[in-house]
Amino acid sequence: MSFIITEINDQIAWVTINRPEALNAMNPIVISELQDAIENCINDSSVGVIILTGSGEKSFIAGADIKTMQSMGPDEALSFGKVGQQLTVTIENSPKPIIAAVNGFALGGGCEISLACHIRVASETAKFGQPEVLLGILPGWGGTQRLPRLVGTGIANEIITTGRMIDAQEAKEIGLANHVVPLEDLKQKCEEVANQILKNGPNAIAKSLECIREGVGLTTKDGLDLEVKNFSSLFNSDETKEGLSAFVEKRVPNFRK
Ligand code: CAA
Repeated sequence: MSFIITEINDQIAWVTINRPEALNAMNPIVISELQDAIENCINDSSVGVIILTGSGEKSFIAGADIKTMQSMGPDEALSFGKVGQQLTVTIENSPKPIIAAVNGFALGGGCEISLACHIRVASETAKFGQPEVLLGILPGWGGTQRLPRLVGTGIANEIITTGRMIDAQEAKEIGLANHVVPLEDLKQKCEEVANQILKNGPNAIAKSLECIREGVGLTTKDGLDLEVKNFSSLFNSDETKEGLSAFVEKRVPNFRK
């Protein structure tokens, strides 16, 4: 039986981590299956937006599997850290937007996977946190790098060194969650965001995400060079012709035939 359920409807792929008995904690099999599921969705031309969530009403992902880590030495921890990081890089580099539907605990590696997603929509019951230091370890799947970029160094310093849980409202206030909705509205809100995205040109979306992602760490000048290169590269595409013509002809563009 697989730990991952993928359901595709109307260009939206819901990818659900299905290990509720362990609050969707990620052992090596779950990581590998999620890696495959995300890659399959990226390569599936019927998918335009991916939504990642956890099964049950309690947890998105409660982190890396602590029981698996208990017996690890440094070499195994290096491999485990690298496969988890690779998963976050695949998510972050996806040309199709990936939305985290955070339906409960997003702790440790779970918070880090949500950080790699392009957009986070949280239920009112969601709890974010990087509690690794409570275990005598540190965030190993990108938390020390992506969290400060999203919320600023000062707040990331506090979240990571205290290990305290952040409720959904605080997550929204610090820019960690884009939206907070009642749990029963989470699916609808994620699909509302996904459907807004699906109206737009897929290449323009992919190139925009690339500019945002690659621009971090560049000087403004180098970032602007990257932006204008991607901007101009779209101009010989059918998608751009369709978008510009549709405006002039006062009709709705049809980007996804
Ligand atoms: N790994 C393995 N099993 C986990 C788990 C995890 N991260 N989180 C929860 N579980 C398991 C529990 O062991 C328990 O299983 P058993 O019934 O077999 O004992 C089951 O899920 C239910 O959990 P609880 O009984 O603890 O549920 P709760 O409601 O009382 O508490 C919780 C919920 C506060 C999330 C608590 O489970 C918890 O603190 N979990 C650990 C969270 C954590 O520290 N995550 C970070 C992991 S380290 C990491 O992710 C490293 C990295 O950066 C890559």
